[in-house]
Amino acid sequence: MNSTPKRYLITAALPYANGPLHIGHLAGVYVPADVYVRFLKELGRDVIWICGSDEHGVPITIRAQKEGCTPQQVVDKYHTLIKKSFEDFGIEFSIYSRTSNPTHYKTSQDFFLKLFEKGEFIEQEADQYYDPEANQFLADRYITGTCPHCQNPNAYGDQCERCGTSLNATDLINPKSAISGVKPILKKTKHWYLPLDKYQSFLEDWILKQHPEWKTNVLGQCRSWFDAGLHPRAVSRDLPWGVPVPLPNAEGKVLYVWFDAPIGYISATKELTPEWEMYWKSPDTKMVHFIGKDNIVFHCIVFPSMLHAHGEFILPDNVPANEFLNLEGEKLSTSRNWAVWLHEYIEDFPGKQDVLRYVLLANLPETKDNDFTWKDFQARNNSELVGILGNFFNRAMVLSEKYFDGKVPIKNNLDPEEIDYLAQILKQREAIIEAIENYRFRDALKEYMQLARLGNKYLAEREPWKIIKSDPQRVATIVYVALQLAASLSILGRPFLPFTAKKMLERTQH
Ligand code: MF3
Ligand code: ZN
Repeated sequence: MNSTPKRYLITAALPYANGPLHIGHLAGVYVPADVYVRFLKELGRDVIWICGSDEHGVPITIRAQKEGCTPQQVVDKYHTLIKKSFEDFGIEFSIYSRTSNPTHYKTSQDFFLKLFEKGEFIEQEADQYYDPEANQFLADRYITGTCPHCQNPNAYGDQCERCGTSLNATDLINPKSAISGVKPILKKTKHWYLPLDKYQSFLEDWILKQHPEWKTNVLGQCRSWFDAGLHPRAVSRDLPWGVPVPLPNAEGKVLYVWFDAPIGYISATKELTPEWEMYWKSPDTKMVHFIGKDNIVFHCIVFPSMLHAHGEFILPDNVPANEFLNLEGEKLSTSRNWAVWLHEYIEDFPGKQDVLRYVLLANLPETKDNDFTWKDFQARNNSELVGILGNFFNRAMVLSEKYFDGKVPIKNNLDPEEIDYLAQILKQREAIIEAIENYRFRDALKEYMQLARLGNKYLAEREPWKIIKSDPQRVATIVYVALQLAASLSILGRPFLPFTAKKMLERTQH
């Protein structure tokens, strides 16, 4: 899509409502998406931005068990906490919904039925582990046993966390149910499978031929899935928590969380606007999914297959997935409590949301994993935000306040260099837009800061404080130019640093 799209539908991965948000969430998905959306709005584009809590899935039932409460209580608690953190950090969705609400149940069940009626699913029985004492089928995460590769006695049914191998539950030696501790038995159960193999050639054509511009990390993952060959994937599970499979004789069966969650983007749009179909069904819409790299297969292969099989919906124009952010050289981990939690940051650094936004933007894991360190946080705050941006802006304001009563002085003759400085504002603006339209947010931030650097350079060269007595006319021109730069910084800064930019703008207005 090259010309300006009529409208944008931007989605950000629905966070699991089973824990609070940390800096990895912000850096991977929400800050870049927020910058993108704010820029589109500044440019006057028609854009809606969709998000909400992902409230199904086994991790939520596990957390409920650990905390001795119901899954609904878990999602209520974290939905509220997550929503608050987004608001605190200026992440402004058009709607922040949740997948436990009735519109979503109906929308995802209707979606399932449509595919069912079109005959898209394969119905198949398979052996699955069952806990004879708890009388329930066991999700892979609910089975532990010895890893056949490294002999770790505490491997899970889907993965061994010691050696990193992904497993099938039936690979485990001495499997045990995590619910009752007993040895599970194999039992037949019926599920519905989405035949991804059937859509492979369509997907290959769509991604590899029509979207060679996607990020290389995204294309790389897609290619390796294609090379391995796609297989049918079950879209239902035997679980007590989730959206019920809307068919007779499907008791105890729910939609697989990765089937219902992305449909959450559609349900939330329905809640937002009666015109939801205009966004989801018109080829004039540009849809972009912001996600982290662990979500690539679901947003590039599974969900597009669902949309394609359904037949009425558009596909994403891009899926700009980020890699992961580490903390002081180590992987972020909720279970090991290795993270900077947003609700704690806000208590430790009240009013300093933009400092975190800035440092994360400067270190976005756009092409490879990246590291957050407190030393870098401090250095970037002191030398860049305060030392470059704050310093220039403040000096420009003080000069106008001191010499011109806070007014914009009338400019006199601009010399050629000054004409260049002013022209640079538009050039930087273009460079910022170019970078953002191509999902290069670190570059966009650099181009923005470049303008503040120019401002400092200009004042250092001209030293207006030395000539105010001898040549006030010249100083009027210098302050005029400095104020143009300062005002531009407050406007162009809005998408990156919304809180700071607002204060800057207020200060330019009196
Ligand atoms: N909850 C998932 C995660 O945190 C993301 C779901 S994205 C959606 O990894 F598309 F499924 F909604
Ligand atoms: Zn292992």
